[in-house]
Amino acid sequence: MRSPPRPRRPVPARLVAAAVLLSALAGGAAAGAAIAGDGYGRGRRLYMRNKVLEMFYHAYDNYMTYAFPHDELKPLTKSFTDSLSELGNLNLEHLPNDYNGSALTLVESLSSLVVLGNLTEFERGVLWLSENLTFDVDARINLFECNIRLLGGLISGHILAKEHISHLKDGPYQDQLLHLAENLGSRFLPAFETPTGLPYAWINLKPCNYFFQYGVMENETTETSTSGCGSLILEMGALSRLTGDSRYEAAALRALRKLWSMRSSLNLVGTTLDVLTGKWIEYSSGIGAGVDSFYEYLIKAYVLFGSEEYWDMFHSAYLAVQKYFRHGPWYHEADMRTGEATHWQLTSLQAFWPGLQTLLGDVAAANISHREFYNVWQRFGVLPERYLLDFGMLHPTEKYYPLRPEFAESTFYLYQATKGDYRLFFIVQI
Ligand SMILES: *[C@@H]1O[C@H](CO)[C@@H](O)[C@H](O)[C@H]1NC(C)=O
Ligand SMILES: *[C@@H]1O[C@H](CO)[C@@H](O)[C@H](O)[C@H]1NC(C)=O
Ligand SMILES: *[C@@H]1O[C@H](CO)[C@@H](O)[C@H](O)[C@H]1NC(C)=O
Ligand SMILES: *[C@@H]1O[C@H](CO)[C@@H](O)[C@H](O)[C@H]1NC(C)=O
Ligand SMILES: *[C@@H]1O[C@H](CO)[C@@H](O)[C@H](O)[C@H]1NC(C)=O
Repeated sequence: MRSPPRPRRPVPARLVAAAVLLSALAGGAAAGAAIAGDGYGRGRRLYMRNKVLEMFYHAYDNYMTYAFPHDELKPLTKSFTDSLSELGNLNLEHLPNDYNGSALTLVESLSSLVVLGNLTEFERGVLWLSENLTFDVDARINLFECNIRLLGGLISGHILAKEHISHLKDGPYQDQLLHLAENLGSRFLPAFETPTGLPYAWINLKPCNYFFQYGVMENETTETSTSGCGSLILEMGALSRLTGDSRYEAAALRALRKLWSMRSSLNLVGTTLDVLTGKWIEYSSGIGAGVDSFYEYLIKAYVLFGSEEYWDMFHSAYLAVQKYFRHGPWYHEADMRTGEATHWQLTSLQAFWPGLQTLLGDVAAANISHREFYNVWQRFGVLPERYLLDFGMLHPTEKYYPLRPEFAESTFYLYQATKGDYRLFFIVQI
């Protein structure tokens, strides 16, 4: 098997790359800024650019009108959810009556506002968050989601604010987003206090008190996923580099190393595991749900931090995926112990893979896998959440599309790498 080419060494301004990476992780809206010499006529590019702006402001303004400061807009009823806390809170009565959420959509929009050039609105958001955002709530949250969305959003917002500080009038930016990120990150740390260093999947944002009521909650599940343990290093590593407090990076790296030590002799990992025993629960895995961002974070951590250790892990893991999961242009699931195929299902989440292959420099492989997702998109109008591959026939079994950014990100990367006729613009044509 051909060895994947090593990506170029990291660019000097690594933390600027962090902002771009983190904003790409946080959503696909950044794709609108990519207008370059691509052979498209100027008129067409302007049309597409305006279309992206229109779509962004439609979503953003309606969120601000109907849902802010709660987490997400429910567009049909013009109401809201506090998704970050509701996700894990079976007992919603635990949330204070006047709980306002974490303004999650605003946090996630900060990087888009900068990319789209709206520094006034960016600044307004930053100041609002600085004064009003609190994490001292009795809410059980999912560590992975809170990390990639809230912590990642705050850190990329901070890096972008520093970049544009001369434009933020009267210098009101005093690292407020970084202080918020640090406050949040410190609430994550108790989740890592396990014999293995693998973090619990859920944690209460209120720090643990004498009665252990908060922090890791009583009878908390010890089951978590590979992505739950392996997708923390970008945000927590960046937080440590920015604050000088090494605890965040150390906790995430210890968890990642432990996870990697649990791989099989085929260099495959499973999907779910127990954080107390460090034993696998589900041995079957693929590149989709429960595992996907483990691969993504390994290569992005190498790009961001430049450490060979991430490259070595990624390199071995990538070769194993190509060897045991790949079937023509598709990827199925397999048992980590034997490499035998288990499930022939494809999921919308897998659409990040061509982007990862592009980042790696394997543009030819990315082109091939991207084309398959593109064909599915064309056939159904969107990517179904899950579909079964049966003798070359696709049967969607979960027929919904929760506006996932994976395929947009892959398309964006591939377009940036080739400047070709990449099917970039179909996304805004829906
Ligand atoms: C929610 O917002 C209201 C109005 O700004 C404020 O009075 C209240 O303290 C907030 N609740 C929490 C739990 O922060
Ligand atoms: C920035 O966003 C706000 C809120 O949508 C809008 O009112 C304002 O016109 C925008 N400014 C620019 C320069 O686009
Ligand atoms: C904090 O929230 C309150 C209530 O929404 C608002 O009136 C105030 O302006 C906010 N602070 C900032 C700095 O935006
Ligand atoms: C935790 O589990 C024990 C034993 O099953 C039970 O007695 C206790 O009530 C549980 N605590 C909570 C908060 O559910
Ligand atoms: C991608 O594949 C198409 C054939 O489907 C080919 O025409 C094109 O040159 C390929 N592009 C790259 C960058 O490999």
